[in-house]
Amino acid sequence: MSLGFLGTGTIATAVVHALAPLGHQITVSERSASNAAALSAAYDNVTIAANADVTATADVLFLGLMPDTARELLPKLPFRAGQRVISFIADLPLSEVQALIGPAQAESLVLPFPAIAHTRSPLIAYPESDLVAEIFAAHDVFAMASEAEFKAMLSAQAVLSPVVQMLLTAADWAATQGAEATKAQDFLRSLIAANLTASPLAPLLASLSTEGGYNARLRAHMDSANSFTALKSGLDAL
Ligand SMILES: NC(=O)c1ccc[n+]([C@@H]2O[C@H](COP(=O)([O-])OP(=O)(O)OC[C@H]3O[C@@H](n4cnc5c(N)ncnc54)[C@H](OP(=O)(O)O)[C@@H]3O)[C@@H](O)[C@H]2O)c1
Repeated sequence: MSLGFLGTGTIATAVVHALAPLGHQITVSERSASNAAALSAAYDNVTIAANADVTATADVLFLGLMPDTARELLPKLPFRAGQRVISFIADLPLSEVQALIGPAQAESLVLPFPAIAHTRSPLIAYPESDLVAEIFAAHDVFAMASEAEFKAMLSAQAVLSPVVQMLLTAADWAATQGAEATKAQDFLRSLIAANLTASPLAPLLASLSTEGGYNARLRAHMDSANSFTALKSGLDAL
């Protein structure tokens, strides 16, 4: 499959790292020149071209642009009937993408995450698409049933950053108490990843609720400090 990327920024670069090893012919736009050059140097099947040439040559196009750039750039590009476009642009509804790409088909709005460059990773997609499922078969595509569900998960995924901040805070705290700093981070990352992978959330929480135990006491403390209420109001405000 011939794949083209308009915008070679953070997320497009991560996705190229995920897809290039599969052997697709990939063209990336010449913007973010250092990213484009590194990808082309790393993979024989990745080449660099101007936006118009990326658009002209690809069967499937990925949009790794900011919304205002997309609004200005896309109507000038030579999209054609039969091409399919997968947008990563979280804040641009697919209906608006469709209006900007003329005869091509806006296939799905897909949110990958940077970890996809290195490992199996979840993505959210709306609407569900066989093409997206095929291209990202090595990953976990969560198809959203409605635009509302997509928007809800777009906000909910932001919990990742506070979770990482909590782990960093706990590792830093452990270091002040005599733990080796890198070991503390490695242990906490492994602990959280293993437990979350092994169990759905409610049973996991139940198993971490031994009365008087360390987990139960810390959670109660954070609850009494309104940490979870703050999380909910923060999600409401996004
Ligand atoms: N970062 C994430 O984790 C993530 C995850 C899912 C979805 N997204 C979505 O992906 C989109 C891009 O995010 P990002 O984090 O990857 O941003 P980014 O790193 O700033 O990438 C934006 C890209 O657009 C390029 N660009 C700007 N003007 C252009 C033009 N006229 N022609 C071609 N390319 C142009 C930039 O090139 P220059 O560097 O040369 O200006 C850059 O390569 C956003 O809409 C975001 O919502 C991001």
